[in-house]
Amino acid sequence: MLSKVIEGALNKQIRIEAESSQIYLAMACWAEVKGLEGISNFMYKQSDEEREHMLKLVKFVNERGGHAHISELKAPNVTFKSFKEMFEMLFKHEVFVSESINDLVHISLEERDYATHNFLQWYVSEQIEEEAMARTILDKINLIGDDKGGLYLFDRDIDKITITTAASENPM
Ligand code: FEO
Repeated sequence: MLSKVIEGALNKQIRIEAESSQIYLAMACWAEVKGLEGISNFMYKQSDEEREHMLKLVKFVNERGGHAHISELKAPNVTFKSFKEMFEMLFKHEVFVSESINDLVHISLEERDYATHNFLQWYVSEQIEEEAMARTILDKINLIGDDKGGLYLFDRDIDKITITTAASENPM
């Protein structure tokens, strides 16, 4: 059975993951209307992944005697000055999500809820990978700068940036 404190904290994270999904969906749309199909597809996939992160939390809360609350979400940014700005926002957002997961882990220990603590380890590992991937993308975008040809190639190859290649380029 979840304590009220843990239930509240997990519900907050459910909202953060849902908002992440919306943020990345908006990025996918912007890339799509800009004609960059590779980046757009990549962001659609990221958006789906965030929804999976949210659902995993929803199921956990409901299965442990809590009630997952599906709340109103903050509207995401829908336009960006550049792809560099867009990927900077993605990276910053992932850092924010990692901090939020760390806070949750801390709360689970304070509450002596070892089942939740154990469940959260998946998110801890996931955030290491997501941050590494976002950092790799940002590094590549910074290399490209304003070069249109570079952006074209990046759009073509972005689906090859997998979590594994990102992790090996960014040893933790
Ligand atoms: Fe669910 Fe990208 O953090």
